[in-house]
Amino acid sequence: MEEPGISRRPSIYYRPINPNDLDRLEQIHRDIFPIKYESEFFQSVVNGVGIVSWAAVDRSRPDGHCDELIGFVTAKFVLAKESEIDDLICYDSSQGEETLIYILTLGVVESYRNHGIAMSLISGVIRYASGLSLCRGVYLHVIAYNNPAIRLYNRLMFRCVRRLNGFYLIKRQHFDAFLFVYFVNGSRSPCSPLEVAMFVVNYMKNGIKSVASKLTRKEEKGLKWLVPKDTDCVLPTQTEPNLGSSSSGYGLI
Ligand code: ACO
Repeated sequence: MEEPGISRRPSIYYRPINPNDLDRLEQIHRDIFPIKYESEFFQSVVNGVGIVSWAAVDRSRPDGHCDELIGFVTAKFVLAKESEIDDLICYDSSQGEETLIYILTLGVVESYRNHGIAMSLISGVIRYASGLSLCRGVYLHVIAYNNPAIRLYNRLMFRCVRRLNGFYLIKRQHFDAFLFVYFVNGSRSPCSPLEVAMFVVNYMKNGIKSVASKLTRKEEKGLKWLVPKDTDCVLPTQTEPNLGSSSSGYGLI
């Protein structure tokens, strides 16, 4: 059914998952994940019951399967204060109940990989989350050996905030997981003690440098004091990826 490899440039479109996608969605999950998902999960996805989802399809397929899923992302809303990252969220309860989006599954069929489809799907989730004023972030777990997925989340500027020992149990074997978060709408994690210490050290270092350089300049050239530059800050900043476009040039619809 699937093409062994895509030599032509696919024409990728993104749409919500619908009930017609049920069989294909189940099949891809079976093919690419080591974990078995219950049929209730798939029913919830295709019917949009408590789950938001996006499908990727290749409209340029010559075989009549141009609306068949070749990639997907599924996610659900979680109340921030009931989530496992409640300690990392900046709350402003005057506005209402803060939420997070938890990514449940993400997959691209093998023959369509390395075309930026996963990147577009996750960028779409971030864009969706950013448009919801009470949403504070997007987070997910990824098994510690899944390097392609880890590279993807790093590239998209997710922050790896935790390593969870033995989080997954697969065929009676435990595997660690990484917890990745992308903060949106001004939310960001409080500084860890290490970050605070680094900030103080850098602030002092830059302060001393700035004074020393001013003294040197004043001595050397007799110039007046320069307006000090902002101190370099080592605290992590939230960098928004360009959500309006994807690396592959495919647009979300
Ligand atoms: N030309 C060439 N290379 C490209 C292009 C392009 N146009 N666009 C992107 N790439 C490269 C990226 O730079 C990236 O390179 P890297 O691996 O060296 O970092 C690579 O292609 C993959 O990026 P994408 O194309 O955006 O990702 P892809 O669509 O291949 O999907 C995924 C990645 C989802 C991890 C896929 O491998 C997969 O389905 N794996 C099995 C299931 C899985 O592991 N899912 C994630 C589990 S975590 C979770 O579900 C929460």
